[in-house]
Amino acid sequence: MNILVTGGAGRIGSHVISLLLARGDRVINLDLRESGQAGVTNIIGAFDDAAAVARATEKAEAVLHLGALMSWVAADAPKMFAANVTGTSLLLQAAQARKVKKFVFASSGEVYPETKPAYLPIDESHPTQPTSAYGMTKLLAEEAVKFYSRSGLAAVILRFSHTQDAAELLDPESFFSGPRFYLRARIRQQEAFGNMKVVETLRSYDDGTEKHLVSRGQDGVVFRMPISDARDIAAGVIAALDSDRADGQVMNLGVDEAIRFDEAVALLQKHTGLPAVDVRFPVPAVNYATSRARAIEILGVRPQWTFQRMVEDAAARRN
Ligand SMILES: NC(=O)c1ccc[n+]([C@@H]2O[C@H](COP(=O)([O-])OP(=O)(O)OC[C@H]3O[C@@H](n4cnc5c(N)ncnc54)[C@H](O)[C@@H]3O)[C@@H](O)[C@H]2O)c1
Repeated sequence: MNILVTGGAGRIGSHVISLLLARGDRVINLDLRESGQAGVTNIIGAFDDAAAVARATEKAEAVLHLGALMSWVAADAPKMFAANVTGTSLLLQAAQARKVKKFVFASSGEVYPETKPAYLPIDESHPTQPTSAYGMTKLLAEEAVKFYSRSGLAAVILRFSHTQDAAELLDPESFFSGPRFYLRARIRQQEAFGNMKVVETLRSYDDGTEKHLVSRGQDGVVFRMPISDARDIAAGVIAALDSDRADGQVMNLGVDEAIRFDEAVALLQKHTGLPAVDVRFPVPAVNYATSRARAIEILGVRPQWTFQRMVEDAAARRN
């Protein structure tokens, strides 16, 4: 098939493209950046650029809409709305006009939101009340997907868990793992968010050398959440593309187990040798787990990458 992958240069999109190419599909990538993989047709453009969307969808028989702007910086909210809501809407319109066989949409657990769960584990019936602008754009985009789905588009909504490329775990400069597990990256992130009270607390632990960070909430509870490998998410996207049973469904996708951040840091320390600081934040702990039962039942794919396996893989690739 001719398959349009949006965000094909990204962490998850690049793995999806590898799987598609390996089985002989032809891939078009719509992204602000080139995919870098041989054999891919790149359409460099923005999701909210109707001309770029028209070019990208011209020959598409299926659309895997995996690209998005992810930001938690307040000033990015308008840009995020254009990319994630207007962009998804344009892609849906084009997909319907081209009568594509399938539209898979990458949504997020931030639509619930995961950090303020009403109950655990979070399943697909959990109320959707996003607390971030990013989560809001994903929920609005989901509504657009459902609208086109009602008028005949075979569409699937996948709510991805927090997802990393394994190599990021050992990289203090990486977008997600940096601020999550490394003190100085967290300070820089909180400075960018303008959370100066948190910055002040964190700075009191900073002696100028790199350190791991174990985060606790105000009540002393250690942070705990699922962290998935991009390869497991990519396998789920392909399964959703191939499965007729997935049409019209909304499914959580990712690992089943949540990892405690003290255990995560202990695993990282085996390879980094860095000391760790244990910090109590003036907010409730991030502490959730998500049910993947529906995706396992419908798609038949189980996550293969535990946090421990991801860290070991990152270390093996680094050596
Ligand atoms: N990684 C996660 O933890 C996570 C969790 C839940 C949901 N998701 C969703 O999964 C999808 C893939 O995530 P990822 O981790 O691979 O992200 P990523 O940031 O690695 O990749 C996103 C890609 O989208 C492209 N992009 C951004 N804005 C664009 C625009 N306006 N026009 C064209 N291209 C644009 C970027 O250049 C990038 O290559 C996204 O939709 C994201 O919202 C990710």
